[in-house]
Amino acid sequence: MELRVERDSDIDSWKEVILVYSSALKQMSTKLEILNDEFQHIHRYNPIEHIKSRIKTSESIVKKLKKHGYESTIQNMIQYVNDIAGIRVICSFTSDIYRIAEMISNQSDIKVIAVKDYIVTPKTSGYKSYHMLVTVPVYLSDRILDTKVEIQIRTVAMDFWASLEHKIHYKFEGNAPDYIRNELVECAKMVSALDAKMLTLNEEVLGITKRKE
Ligand code: GTP
Ligand code: MG
Repeated sequence: MELRVERDSDIDSWKEVILVYSSALKQMSTKLEILNDEFQHIHRYNPIEHIKSRIKTSESIVKKLKKHGYESTIQNMIQYVNDIAGIRVICSFTSDIYRIAEMISNQSDIKVIAVKDYIVTPKTSGYKSYHMLVTVPVYLSDRILDTKVEIQIRTVAMDFWASLEHKIHYKFEGNAPDYIRNELVECAKMVSALDAKMLTLNEEVLGITKRKE
């Protein structure tokens, strides 16, 4: 991202950066809504349950830069903090996750920078989700800025687990007792079993409906 840092005061460039990231989030949300609407039109069902988006707070940005040993400058935040613009896409079924990921990757103005599939390879915590780091173009009056957006795609069940685990992690400041961690890993397995079962059930129901048509 090319910034006019030399011309602007720090506050102005900070505001400009946040404006660009907010615009990137709007772009991405609209793209996802369009895909969902089109999917509904063709297949008569919505792969997306809901979408949440957020801009990382200045405190979290500074904390992350510090954690990785970088000075708090605007250039560093653009270069090293990949989740300033974050969007979470919640789906009903695991198959929807890959469908959405593919539809996003196929868009010619989106560049996929990195993918982390924590569904195939869950974290040791039990965390499951599909992460994509992409750039979307933001059209300003005099230039186009390819801007990073972190996309997390997961099922309703995975999201339920992640919210609870996040709360627990926060409460114990990252040092939850072993028995609680183990329980969470067990819950994550139940989430996977539930997701698999719901997917099979849905496919069976779709099969019955098709035969009736
Ligand atoms: P961060 O420094 O946390 O951003 O990690 P990272 O840059 O290595 O990326 P990663 O893909 O591992 O994680 C990015 C985001 O995924 C985090 O900010 C969380 O929102 C989510 N996440 C990752 N691991 C966990 C986990 O174990 N539990 C929960 N609840 N969320 C997680
Ligand atoms: Mg993060």
